[in-house]
Amino acid sequence: MKGIDARKADHIEICLNERIEPGYNYWNDVRLIHDALPEVDYSEIDTTSNVLGRELEFPFIVTAITGGFKGAEKINANIAKACADLGIGMGTGSERAGIDGVDENSYRIIRDYDVPLVIGNIGAPQLIEQGRKRAYGKMDIEKAMELIDADYIALHLNFLQEVVQPEGDTNAKGCLDAIKRVASDYPTIVKETGAGISMSTISKLEGYGIRAVDLAGMGGTSFSAVELYRARNENDAIRTRIGETFFDWGIPTPVALECADTKLPLIASGGVRTGLDVARAIAMGATCVGAANLVLAEAMESAEAVKEKLTIIKEELKAAMLLTGSANIKELSTKRYVLLGQTEQWIGGMKKWM
Ligand SMILES: Cc1cc2nc3c(=O)[nH]c(=O)nc-3n(C[C@H](O)[C@H](O)[C@H](O)COP(=O)(O)O)c2cc1C
Repeated sequence: MKGIDARKADHIEICLNERIEPGYNYWNDVRLIHDALPEVDYSEIDTTSNVLGRELEFPFIVTAITGGFKGAEKINANIAKACADLGIGMGTGSERAGIDGVDENSYRIIRDYDVPLVIGNIGAPQLIEQGRKRAYGKMDIEKAMELIDADYIALHLNFLQEVVQPEGDTNAKGCLDAIKRVASDYPTIVKETGAGISMSTISKLEGYGIRAVDLAGMGGTSFSAVELYRARNENDAIRTRIGETFFDWGIPTPVALECADTKLPLIASGGVRTGLDVARAIAMGATCVGAANLVLAEAMESAEAVKEKLTIIKEELKAAMLLTGSANIKELSTKRYVLLGQTEQWIGGMKKWM
């Protein structure tokens, strides 16, 4: 069985080189309505937004990607520098390797940059006992916060990944109580990792002080796909087969967002690839938008490359704002949209029993 650092390195390698996304683009099914007479000056468009108490230059977070092995230090430094320069948020990958003392530097490097919103990360499955593995407690969360001087801790739900992963933590019993305990002590975000969060799951999380939910839906990075390639490399026929079967498992992000009827702030991530997708998500009610794989190749290269990619996203967002007659993010959030294709079918199906 591989160590956690080798596993993290595998994830990066696979995301860069293999097909890890289901083919269908759900965000393309969300159409904002063109305003032929927008009465807005592009040069005056205000993309700033208060996200979870922090002023961001535009409502965007590079969500959890990595940490915990040597190569991760450069990736996190490049992302942190770009996010600091652009005034947007950043999440680190799972801090398990930092907590367990495998590697701290790849996390600590984030502290060197003035990122306006920093989010730590721990898997919810690690909050409960998994076979002989101990459950993380308060000291571990404290360390995760301290390593990167985090504003929030994101607890990730990743049972799709765990069930495909050859060494997965598949005990989900007690997770909700463990999340509630963390939320009573630390500013907590609950996030998925690419399979989405339904309204019935959000209902279970409401009322316990959780500060936000990152829907992290299906349509972008599939952790079933990522683990499928690892299982194949390890000649694990059963996990390979499960990975293939559940390749596109989950709730597409725009579907999860449309069906989420909650007062909790929502971060929309999963398959976001353009600034137009960001505008779509804001119009659909997201407080903030996130993406991970979008900047991975650039993060391997340089902070400048990440910055360039994210500057395109911001300019595309502004273009969408001009074309919908939105002078600021608040106005964009009130714009109408039409739902098409599989996304509309999904939502129709979901709403039948809501
Ligand atoms: C290489 C890679 C590693 C990731 N590692 C983590 C992680 O450690 N913790 C986590 O909560 N999410 C992790 N994610 C998931 C993202 O933060 C996010 O939920 C989702 O992938 C966003 O979708 P996108 O990649 O389609 O933009 C990872 C994503 C990628 C691409």
